Amino acid sequence: MTSSLHPDERERLQAQNTELATLAGGLAHEIRNPLSTIRMNLELLAEDLGDSGASNAHRMLERVAKLQSECLNLEGVLNEFLQFARAGQLDLTECSLNDVVAEFLDFLTAQAEEQNVELRPHLDANLPLARLDKSLLRQVLSNLARNALQAMPKGGTLEFLTMVRDSDIAFEVIDTGEGMSETTVAKMFQAFFSTRSGGSGLGLPTVRRIIEAHGGSISCESAPGNGTRFTILLPRSA
Ligand SMILES: Nc1ncnc2c1ncn2[C@@H]1O[C@H](COP(=O)(O)OP(=O)(O)OP(=O)(O)O)[C@@H](O)[C@H]1O
Ligand SMILES: [Mg+2]
Repeated sequence: MTSSLHPDERERLQAQNTELATLAGGLAHEIRNPLSTIRMNLELLAEDLGDSGASNAHRMLERVAKLQSECLNLEGVLNEFLQFARAGQLDLTECSLNDVVAEFLDFLTAQAEEQNVELRPHLDANLPLARLDKSLLRQVLSNLARNALQAMPKGGTLEFLTMVRDSDIAFEVIDTGEGMSETTVAKMFQAFFSTRSGGSGLGLPTVRRIIEAHGGSISCESAPGNGTRFTILLPRSA
């Protein structure tokens, strides 16, 4: 446990952690820019090929399309990675979690309707204020909601609850989706763990990093066929 470490040692580890995160973030940036240049040039190449009238243009276009889609995948992974790396740097304002949730739900409504998912907010009107990074909290909501929608391909219900629990603000996201096996529950917060093809496996690790940077915690209850409940505890403002 970090708490049993000598303060000097803990500080050294934290500095090391920050340095590594900066390095990794820098590397991801360095890769992202040339990658988007490559993708843009592939687009131009595809246009030229289309205009060329060459006999094998069709086959070449297929290969270019494959390269473009791999570039897009890599860009997606890099963006998620950068979000993960940034998740520890907070820009705090005193606000109500209810407002952040309500705003996010407005944004989610259309997509939920399209997927036959009913959104049910239960927001405690007496919720105390908290010091939050609103933009990172939106990221938390977005990652949890995306997972929930992916777990309910045939529709279902998605609840968002806020309430006071002891000295904390509690926030629950409950879906009626496919749920998770014990193995998945044990591994879901590990970076790059994913059971989905095309999933980067950074969604939940980013969520946990953001919540812990706020001094909060996250836990999960889930079982196959029984849906999933994520519970987040956040400290209220002093
Ligand atoms: N609400 C949920 N219902 C069922 N399974 C879930 C849910 N949330 C997460 N999972 C499981 O946890 C795994 C890890 O989730 P995480 O969001 O970290 O990565 P991902 O969704 O696979 O990829 P991405 O990086 O694109 O979000 C998922 O692959 C899935 O198996
Ligand atoms: Mg996800």
